[in-house]
Parts: sequence; C-alpha cells; structure tokens
Amino acid sequence: MRKEDIERIRRSHAAIDDPHAFAMRFYEILFRVQPDLRRLFPAQIDAQAAKFAGMLVAVVAQLDAPSVLEADVAELGRRHVDYGVGEADYDAVGAALLMALHEAIGEAFTPEVEQAWAAVYGEMAETMIAAGSHAVVG
Ligand code: HEM
Repeated sequence: MRKEDIERIRRSHAAIDDPHAFAMRFYEILFRVQPDLRRLFPAQIDAQAAKFAGMLVAVVAQLDAPSVLEADVAELGRRHVDYGVGEADYDAVGAALLMALHEAIGEAFTPEVEQAWAAVYGEMAETMIAAGSHAVVG
C-alpha cells in the first residue's frame, strides 16, 4: 500500500469521533442493505461492534507492516466459515463499511480516501476468504 494511501486511511480513521457508535451504525447499514445477514449475528450487537471497531484499529495501526496481522486475519477468516459467512457476503460488508465511513466523515471521504479503504478491506477479505476455503478443503 502506498504511503499516501496509508496517510489517507489514518487521517480518515482518526476523524471518526466515536468508534463504537460508528461500528453500531455500520451494522445498522449492513442489516438494512442485506437483512438476511442479521440472523448470523447475536441479538445484542454491542459486543460484536466493539470487536469490529477493535479490529479496524489494529489494521490501521499495522498498515505499513501488514504481514504482522496476516496470520491473525487468516485465523479470523477460518472462524468466519464456522460463523456461516460465505464468500459473497464479503461484498455486502465492504459496501456497508464504505457507506458508514462516508456518513461518518462526510466531505473528507474523497474518492481517493474511498479507494484506499476499499483496497484495505479488499486485501483483508481476500486473505480471510483464502484461509477459509483452505480450511474447508483440508
Ligand atoms: C474484513 C472483514 C471482516 C472483519 C475484519 C471481521 C471481524 C470480525 C471480528 C473481529 C469478529 C469477532 C469474533 C472473532 O474474532 O472471531 C467477527 C465475528 C463475526 N463476523 Fe466478522 N469480520 C469481517 C467480515 C465479515 C463478513 C463478510 C461477515 C458476513 C456477514 C461477518 C460476520 C461475522 C459473524 C456472524 C461473526 C460472529 C458473531 C457472533 O456470533 O458473535 N464478518 N468478525
């Protein structure tokens, strides 16, 4: 990932006032866009929202050394197979994340910022999906 994109991610992530409220809003958007995903999650989404926000913080912190998180992300991907998450679900989650970011940071969500986030999410999703599909095969 290019240095400018890392800066874009870090600046826009820092512009989120309340990370927990952001994560809650992300799930609200996700379940509005893709209501059938709701059943995969517990009734109370608070704890899950905190975990998701925590994961975002970890990823943003390690953007210049992505290999540090690779094993963790792969492990996360394998667990997602057990949660009943399919490959196609990653697109809906990525789209909801971008919408929630847009809403949270407004005009600062430029096309460059959007692309940088889409790239980060895409790489994570790819690692998770690959790890999950290997788990199924072997
Ligand atoms: C880059 C993408 C994603 C990240 C970073 C992420 C992050 C997390 C984290 C940190 C957890 C907490 C549990 C654990 O660590 O195993 C979790 C659980 C979960 N995630 Fe994801 N996730 C992603 C994609 C998805 C997608 C695409 C779905 C599809 C709907 C999904 C559905 C779930 C579900 C159902 C749980 C378990 C909830 C529960 O039963 O407590 N996640 N996710």
